[in-house]
Amino acid sequence: MCGIVGYIGKKQAYPILIKGLKRLEYRGYDSAGVALISDNKQLNVYKTKGKVADLEAFATHKDISGTVGIAHTRWATHGEPCSLNAHPHFSSSERLALIHNGIIENYATLKEKLQAKGYVFKSSTDTEVLVQLIEYIQNSNHIDLLTAVQLALQEVIGAYAIAVLDRDNPDEIVAARKSSPLVVGIGTNEFFLASDATPIVEYTDQVVYLEDEEIALIRRDKPLRIVNLNNVECSHEVKTVALNLGQLEKGGYPHFMLKEIFEQPDCICDCMRGRINVNENHVILFSVIDHKERLLRAKRFIIVACGTSWHAGLIGKQLIESFCRIPVEVEYASEFRYRNPVIDENDVVIAISQSGETADTLAAVELAKSRGAFIFGICNVIGSSIPRITDTGAYIHVGPEIGVASTKAFTGQVTVLVMLALTLAKERGTLSEAEYLSMVRELSAIPSKMKEVLQLNDRIAQLSKIFTYAHNFIYLGRGYSYPVALEGALKLKEISYIHAEGYPAAEMKHGPIALIDAEMPVVVIATRNGLYEKVLSNIQEIKARKGRVIALVTRGDTVISRIADTCIELPETPECLEPLITTVPLQMLAYHIAVCKGMDVDQPRNLAKSVTVE
Ligand code: G6P
Repeated sequence: MCGIVGYIGKKQAYPILIKGLKRLEYRGYDSAGVALISDNKQLNVYKTKGKVADLEAFATHKDISGTVGIAHTRWATHGEPCSLNAHPHFSSSERLALIHNGIIENYATLKEKLQAKGYVFKSSTDTEVLVQLIEYIQNSNHIDLLTAVQLALQEVIGAYAIAVLDRDNPDEIVAARKSSPLVVGIGTNEFFLASDATPIVEYTDQVVYLEDEEIALIRRDKPLRIVNLNNVECSHEVKTVALNLGQLEKGGYPHFMLKEIFEQPDCICDCMRGRINVNENHVILFSVIDHKERLLRAKRFIIVACGTSWHAGLIGKQLIESFCRIPVEVEYASEFRYRNPVIDENDVVIAISQSGETADTLAAVELAKSRGAFIFGICNVIGSSIPRITDTGAYIHVGPEIGVASTKAFTGQVTVLVMLALTLAKERGTLSEAEYLSMVRELSAIPSKMKEVLQLNDRIAQLSKIFTYAHNFIYLGRGYSYPVALEGALKLKEISYIHAEGYPAAEMKHGPIALIDAEMPVVVIATRNGLYEKVLSNIQEIKARKGRVIALVTRGDTVISRIADTCIELPETPECLEPLITTVPLQMLAYHIAVCKGMDVDQPRNLAKSVTVE
């Protein structure tokens, strides 16, 4: 993770870099720093533990002049979060400053080699090794910075997005990437550099996404040059990004997370736009149609993902299996990539990732691709790494998600999975006409039902106050509601730091039931569907042990309201679409409990939105 920003042009760099870091803070926020070549040709580095606001406070009254600079917001991998370990890192002579997102895996060997030559290290990071190595190579060979960076990177094993500033050359930034994202923005007489396009869109919509092992030479008043590690020129395509600045602001909400929860009805409309036509009674995911033969001859599907996206994958499995009758496996990308999975050209892999940059998911895709599998991506960030290496895919189109805890991306992913399953089912003839038509109608009704659920916000805010005492929560659900229970528990853990477990309701009696006492809140997804009676029995079992039941029920349910301590009534919808409805109150519950406990909802401790390291 970590966020990188750079600027070279005619304007003062510092305000642009700080604003850019704030946009990238979702990527990490334990320390931050900036390097600027000042108007009087000094290379000034300011860095501190804490957030970007702490960096601003730290830099007050310091020389922040300069029209070229690089900046970094960190999520610690090597070395604790502290000022010394914050980026940028100086080389020994303090002539070079470098920022880095990724992990240099062979840093210990490189460090020993440099220490033997007399190099002294101030930090415990892998990054400082890289900047020292570049300087060492440059000094020993009397070569320019670009060549030194190329030679240094040839020695590096691992992942990197880097930017290097040379005090003696204020007209150039050298930047490179491998397995960590980097985007160059092309303005008028100015260039920008960032981990994603969000810091750039304010100034230009023209961007170039660097590919692995490419180095960008970003020079004042000269065209962008991109070369590889062997100095061969690389052609590059300038893309136009369409990001609305309003999407990057809180728009009157106290937190991005709440804004994103409330955006969901609109997001789902955006996600379905052009893909569903109720009047003509059809759903079409064009990428499925375009690759119909390949998808239809698949013997099985394998879904790879991490975190919340993995929960969406569990729902996808049930959708595809029940609509299309194709076997589906769901794997944690991090496990899949390291266990020599049985996979070949008969398989289709669906990679789900909000950011499109998660290192484990990316590696799982690369592995599956190398074995000949066909790869379908379901991502949100346009132009990110996963959509660029997949064979095809569908964006979820929910707009930038800034809150670290994922909300609208989850419902967007589930929506795409429903559309994928319906499109395939139609082609395979595995759903009856009546079932298909009913699904199309029900799916298109989801945004308005979500709006009804959002009206429960005040009530859930009140309810949340009761539960701030809790140290543990259990979430239960069955069938399509089991992944929702997992997601509800994950949301609570992530932002309130309350321990929470999601469980299939019937499994409770095989262990978690031992935890239930009068203190234990148990959230049960108990909507009226095929498993209703079974879940009702599970609720009885909890009440018999005095647990406190918060039940999500279908509007008008009079049975569970007599047993549960609290009922949250939700609009009726078919079982397979229920996750799109039942997830929303669980997002609100987690949000309000965290707010009541005074937690930093948008930037919870130890987490980062985009995990670009393994
Ligand atoms: C991080 C985020 C989660 C997210 C997961 C997968 O852990 O904090 O919210 O679900 O990464 O991210 P992806 O971008 O691949 O969906």
